[in-house]
Amino acid sequence: MGQNATVEVLVTPSGRRLAMEDDIRSGLTSNPKSIPPVWFYDEVGSRLFDEITRLPEYYLTRAERAILAERSAEIVDQAGADTLVEIGSGTSEKTRLLLDAMAASGNLRAVTLLDISEEVLREAASELGERYDVEVHAVVGDFRSHLTKLPAAGRQLWAFLGSTIGNFTPPERGLLFTEFRNAMRPEDRLLIGADLDKDPARLLAAYDDAQGVTAAFNLNVLSVLNHALNANFDPSRFEHKAVWNTEERWIEMRLRSLEAHRVEVSALDLVVDLEEGEELLTEISAKFDRRLLPGELAAAGLTASGSWTDPDGDFLLTLAR
Ligand code: SAH
Ligand code: AVI
Repeated sequence: MGQNATVEVLVTPSGRRLAMEDDIRSGLTSNPKSIPPVWFYDEVGSRLFDEITRLPEYYLTRAERAILAERSAEIVDQAGADTLVEIGSGTSEKTRLLLDAMAASGNLRAVTLLDISEEVLREAASELGERYDVEVHAVVGDFRSHLTKLPAAGRQLWAFLGSTIGNFTPPERGLLFTEFRNAMRPEDRLLIGADLDKDPARLLAAYDDAQGVTAAFNLNVLSVLNHALNANFDPSRFEHKAVWNTEERWIEMRLRSLEAHRVEVSALDLVVDLEEGEELLTEISAKFDRRLLPGELAAAGLTASGSWTDPDGDFLLTLAR
């Protein structure tokens, strides 16, 4: 751990386990069956996601980085913040562009990172603590429940990057925006990364890459459940699927059962019968219309004050107050 980095653990092992039990019991007993994407991110899942960000097909990270490389100075100037708070921070690799811009303007006082994935968070905090001469506070927590537990000091720029907002349905993201608003103070700002609607062929390739990294990422959630909940999923009895939902304008990642079989989740005393071809929904990844996002933010009491896209028009960053 770098000298300037501290770690606070809000998700205890028992708290994590209870949240997972609730999520998985309700997901596997609903129709269609589903598993919320938060459980992708054990250490293996986080490393696989990091690999995804470098795949030729997964344009999202490169597009968002291109915007940050061009526009960070403008964004931080508009935000007027001295403290960066990153939600779902992962490796915080792109975030350095914002931090560089804040440091260059002499306005970088502190950094807070919040992520559920402890090992990757610790590494990111340590690296930022070594690179910047500021206090880095890492919080192992769930952004669905811990936003109000973050330190309140400083004038804050909250960054929610990577289109993680797309992993929620419109009502869920309305709720999340409201929770952001309630946890932030009037002088704070929110920067949201959102993947824009585009040619379904490109979207499908981004979520079903030729090297099979996304398939491994999707299937890994079964191993997470095996370890954490003493389940007996056999990943070789499933295949990864990416589907474009034309009406909803989102990609669905699914795990398709290759044959009829039974799975036991011992920690939940739950028996799950799967039919041949039955599909578990593991993630939605919504693709946004840049004209509609300000309205969604407004419904949660947030006002969009600036927006930026990459030269190809693939990705959108929106600043809100
Ligand atoms: N912001 C990074 C990472 C995006 S991947 C980027 O732009 O590349 C999504 C990140 O959110 C992962 O690091 C994952 O561990 C984290 N995450 C997902 N659901 C979460 C939740 N409910 N609470 C906290 N972190 C979560
Ligand atoms: C983190 N999240 C925004 C990624 C996405 O694109 O929805 C997760 C991911 N799923 C498949 N590939 C990447």
